Amino acid sequence: MTAELRAEKLTRTFAAAGGDVHACADIDLDLHPGELVVVRGPSGAGKTTLLNLLGTLDRPTSGRLLLDGTDVTGLGDEALAALRRERFGFVFQAFGLIPVLTASENVEVPLRIAGVEPAERDARVAEALRLVGLTAQAPQRPGELSGGQQQRVGIARAIVSRPRILVADEPTGQLDSRTAATIMDLLVELAHSQGLAAIVATHDPLLVARADRVVELHDGRLTAGSRPAPGDAADAAPFAPGSALGGDADAVPHTRAEARAQRHGSGR
Ligand SMILES: Nc1ncnc2c1ncn2[C@@H]1O[C@H](COP(=O)(O)OP(=O)(O)OP(=O)(O)O)[C@@H](O)[C@H]1O
Ligand SMILES: [Mg+2]
Repeated sequence: MTAELRAEKLTRTFAAAGGDVHACADIDLDLHPGELVVVRGPSGAGKTTLLNLLGTLDRPTSGRLLLDGTDVTGLGDEALAALRRERFGFVFQAFGLIPVLTASENVEVPLRIAGVEPAERDARVAEALRLVGLTAQAPQRPGELSGGQQQRVGIARAIVSRPRILVADEPTGQLDSRTAATIMDLLVELAHSQGLAAIVATHDPLLVARADRVVELHDGRLTAGSRPAPGDAADAAPFAPGSALGGDADAVPHTRAEARAQRHGSGR
């Protein structure tokens, strides 16, 4: 099956005072329709850099990005922007809503930019708000909504253009853990029901267990990938490389080295 989005040896290097920073190095990754992939890793691991590259918001230093089998790495800014509008939806940690607009007007913004007719806009906005469970809140402004509701508006805005790829950088970073879990459940459900190829960055281990697949970034490199088995989320399952990621939040190792250290006792 052709990946919706494929990264091949994707590398992004920043020049910094102390020398080059390899924010992403040789990343190979496929995203498929109907699957939510979590990228996890500690602060500075390169999650945002990777999501910006995958979302065509930034260009790689080297490597390739393929959209539905087509190499888009060499496209010009305008062509890339058009592809982005058509194929991608973005969800931001800080919601990114316009305070003076109602929930439905916020969701409508991408459709106005795309020049969609008013009747079609109304229908699509209503559908997007229904999908995130906010039909009743359509006339309310962001200041009249809870944080979780605001992020639902942000998600409705991201999916209203019917994108094929959803990119979310720490979408629950400003939410309490219970609300964060419901938002993560919504993203997983939308990926499945709408056939979206979704990629979500988070360093919250409790959210990781909800993903269809988990990839781990460390110092710009993918160090491990694992698929949690259904029902593993809250169980204290031991970690073994290549098996399900489970266990309580603090016990989940971030690298194979940590996993080894845990198995052998960390007092070595
Ligand atoms: N524009 C930039 N210029 C220079 N260095 C950068 C730039 N953007 C990111 N970096 C560096 O690249 C590395 C990865 O940063 P990135 O923001 O991708 O990490 P992150 O995993 O998203 O972290 P966090 O969890 O804190 O959001 C860091 O060392 C960071 O300082
Ligand atoms: Mg980040």
